[in-house]
Amino acid sequence: MSVAKENAALAALEFVKDGMVLGLGSGSTAEIFLEKLGDKVAGGLKVSGVPTSQRTAEVARDAGIPLLNPDRVERIDLTIDGADEVDQAFHLIKGGGACLLREKIIANASKKMLVIVDDRKMVETLGAFELPVEVDPFCLGLTAQQVYDALLKSGCKDGVTTLRQTKDGTGPLVTDGGHYILDCHCREIPDPVATARALAAIPGVMETGLFIDLADVIIIGEVDHAKVLE
Ligand code: 5RP
Repeated sequence: MSVAKENAALAALEFVKDGMVLGLGSGSTAEIFLEKLGDKVAGGLKVSGVPTSQRTAEVARDAGIPLLNPDRVERIDLTIDGADEVDQAFHLIKGGGACLLREKIIANASKKMLVIVDDRKMVETLGAFELPVEVDPFCLGLTAQQVYDALLKSGCKDGVTTLRQTKDGTGPLVTDGGHYILDCHCREIPDPVATARALAAIPGVMETGLFIDLADVIIIGEVDHAKVLE
C-alpha cells in the first residue's frame, strides 16, 4: 500500500461525521479510504454509503460499510474519490478505472466533493493522462471521429483516441453502465472548460472524465503527511 495514498485517506477521514451519507469513490486510493472507514464503522461511527462502481460496492461491503440503494438516495453529504490528474483550479481528469459516469453522477449530487491523491497527480496543465470518454457503442466510429474533432477544435494538442480493451484482451471494456471508453491522447488540454463543453455536445458521449467545478477539497498525500487544499 502506498504511504502517500494512505496519508491522504487518513486525512479524509477527518471530514467524515456521524450520520453522513457518503459517496464512495473508485480506484486504489478510494479503496484505502474504504478500508480505514470500515475500521471507524467497526468502532461505532454511523454512516451509510453510495458506491460509484460495482467493485466499490464489493469492497465497501467487505469492509462492513452499510450501503444505500442508489435508486432511493435522497441526499449525499460528502463524496470521497480519487483522481488521475488535478490542476491548480481543482479541475480533474478521472476515469482511469472506467467508473467516470457513476462517479460524476454522485459527485455532482453531493454537497461536497473531497479528492484524495498522492502528489504525483498534481499537474500544471491537464492532459498527459489520457482523457477517458464514456461512449455509447452505437455508431462508435462516428462518435470517435466527432470526439477527435472536438478535442482539436477546443485547443487540445492532439486528439487520437483508443478504444479501451479488457485487461485479458478479450474485447472492448464494458463499463458498469454498459458503455465503452475512448481514451483520448490529448497531450495538453489548455482549456478544460471548453473541451468538456465540446465533448458534452456529442450525442454518443455519455460523459467525459473532465470534472469541472466539482471538487471542493483536494487532499494531497505525501510520504510523511497530507496537505489539505480548500
Ligand atoms: C476511477 C477513477 C479513479 O479515482 C482514478 O483512476 C484514480 O485511481 P487510483 O487511486 O487507483 O490512482 O477515476 O474511474
